[in-house]
Amino acid sequence: MNHSRFLIAVIFLGTIACQTPGERGLKDEFQPDFYIGAAVNARQVDGSMASADSLLDLHFNSLTSENGLKWSNVHPQEDEFDFEFGDNYVKKGEEMDAFIVGHTLVWHQQVPDWVFRDQEGSFLSKEALQDRMENHIDTVVRRYKGRIDGWDVVNEAFEDDGTWRKTHWYMLMGEEYIAQAFTKAQKVDPDAELYYNDYNVWKPEKRRAILKMAQNLRSQGIRIDGIGMQGHYRLDFPSLDQIETAIEEIHQAGFQVMITELDVDVLPRPSDFDGADLEISYADSPEWNPYADSIPAEVHDKLVDRYASLFGLFKKHSDKISRVTFWGLHDGSTWLNNWPVRGRRNYPLLFDREMRLKWNTALFIKKNR
Ligand code: GLA
Repeated sequence: MNHSRFLIAVIFLGTIACQTPGERGLKDEFQPDFYIGAAVNARQVDGSMASADSLLDLHFNSLTSENGLKWSNVHPQEDEFDFEFGDNYVKKGEEMDAFIVGHTLVWHQQVPDWVFRDQEGSFLSKEALQDRMENHIDTVVRRYKGRIDGWDVVNEAFEDDGTWRKTHWYMLMGEEYIAQAFTKAQKVDPDAELYYNDYNVWKPEKRRAILKMAQNLRSQGIRIDGIGMQGHYRLDFPSLDQIETAIEEIHQAGFQVMITELDVDVLPRPSDFDGADLEISYADSPEWNPYADSIPAEVHDKLVDRYASLFGLFKKHSDKISRVTFWGLHDGSTWLNNWPVRGRRNYPLLFDREMRLKWNTALFIKKNR
């Protein structure tokens, strides 16, 4: 923790329950600094869970669609769009007066295989795939025009070493697919902010490639407002310095910084990798599920300390960061219960399985310059 710049006092109360009148939420603690967001699933926005509703209302002023607006969910067949989630999601965000983010238009995961193929099963030509991509962007962005405030237009186009990820998008359309996606989104909703989003942006080679691509878009007059740094972090990794350098360099390059998918994995990893590559999947075993009953106090304390340090850093750079979004609402609904090992019990968020804040209204942060 960076005590030289900030005194960060985290008060652990353990089991603060629901909202009491006048209670300040996380969003209020960080109101002058950045939005506090949560990625939400279908049940958390359809009005059926009062507990999710009150948690969202009290603590968050931004929402991200966790899975519901990904291609495979919103556009499962060529002639079939499913907007049930999206409509509930945007309505919930508007009721909260939240900054609403659409995630994500063009990605290599959670996109059906038909997207890339013709009726015979052969890969599409560049032009045909561009048409299909533009039609998707047109339909989805248009439906929420003026209501979704920012879009993750392209997700995860680079490998960690800064080379292009060899996705179907890249292999069939070349690197221009990114320019075409941003151009189309801008045309359909000129008022929406447009972002590129990726994990391990703290890695210098990857960041360099992302910033080069983003600056290249700008030099062609194509709008790109910000770079989303997915914050899939671990208790001791990456370092605050690595994250800080990324924040500073993205800002210096002229882009808004967003911490888009924040969680802190407290469980061991079967092998040495980081990031959020969904291709990785191990079967559950007791060895990899050490806290199946509860989180030990010392691990909990490390989690508190990690979050305090991270928020100290984010606050220090609040002039550069527009939003900090948690990837999930509470420990019971985090993807980290199933990645990289399926069926574990993880504890990566600020809210426990009973949807109680693990600390009282936040990380109390006092500037001590
Ligand atoms: C990536 C994606 C998210 C989500 C997470 C983990 O980071 O951007 O949509 O799938 O992986 O679930």
